[in-house]
Amino acid sequence: MSFLDEITPLKEAGLKALETADTLAKLDDVRVQYLGTNGQFTGLLKQMGGLAKEERPAAGKAVNQAKAELNQTLDQRREQLELVAAAPQRATDFTAPGRRRPLGRQHPLTQVTEEIVRSFRKIGFAVADGPELESERYCFDALNTPADHPARDTQDTFFLDTAERPLLRTHTSSVQIRVMEQTPPPIRIIVPGRVYRRDTADATHNPTFHQIEGLYVDKNVTVGDLKGTVEFVFRELLGKEVKLRFRPHYFSYTEPSLEIDFSSPLVRKMGKEWLEIAGCGMVHPAVFENVGYDPEEWSGWAFGFGIERIAMIRYGISDIRLFYENDLRFLDQF
Ligand code: DAH
Repeated sequence: MSFLDEITPLKEAGLKALETADTLAKLDDVRVQYLGTNGQFTGLLKQMGGLAKEERPAAGKAVNQAKAELNQTLDQRREQLELVAAAPQRATDFTAPGRRRPLGRQHPLTQVTEEIVRSFRKIGFAVADGPELESERYCFDALNTPADHPARDTQDTFFLDTAERPLLRTHTSSVQIRVMEQTPPPIRIIVPGRVYRRDTADATHNPTFHQIEGLYVDKNVTVGDLKGTVEFVFRELLGKEVKLRFRPHYFSYTEPSLEIDFSSPLVRKMGKEWLEIAGCGMVHPAVFENVGYDPEEWSGWAFGFGIERIAMIRYGISDIRLFYENDLRFLDQF
């Protein structure tokens, strides 16, 4: 077989080997075998020394053409195999959910409110709601708060300057009256909501803040029910080590009236032993009469506490204003 006759079969064999190599490693083996320094084509070129002088140019050209063809196929094949290697090992699942962008999260006050609501729901309380713009009747009169009571002082309450003198509710207790007026007993509600007072903002005060009101009316309701309920919710919210203390107090809509102090490792961390956290008491008979309930037949208790205060204890926050500034460096921590 002449020199030139050897080139084509060798080239065909090389091309076939390149096509069938199915990994990059195998492809490189083929390259070494045919095109490497000690490969078949190099061997062929070495044989050129034995050719007659006039045959050499044509032979050299044919070898180089064959090598160029092999190199081209090698490059194409390498590209294909590189794509295969880069492809995901598992099949794509086109039904999988898309990547989610972070949607943000709830404000810490909302988180605490929802947790309180969840605890009360477990023991059968429903959430009620009422307007923030109120009349004196719902905010004060029907709650047995007489016109000369200091709570009605314009120093404390935002009144609107119109004939009906509507006001921004100073507490969520107004919703007690609205609910009882519309619903026959028994009643078991909580009322989370925004309230307003003419305070200047400092580390512990803000002209608007949030409260949760509770009202329970049934037959033979006792202070024991009140204590048990409040203790259950606070332990759920702030831990088992929570201690509560009930102190006599005065509210016009309850008799007896109590204030609740609260103690826990979290409070001690804030440098205090007891923190006042809520007002409560047994619903005053005059309030029942104002809404048409018979105080001889029905009894009940009510409470109101500040949501900010609880959130501050819970998260160890010392300045209430942080809740309203919408600074992401603060909000991102919850
Ligand atoms: N309304 C009171 C306040 O804003 C809190 C409160 C005290 C609510 C006693 C009640 C209650 O329902 O019985 O300080």
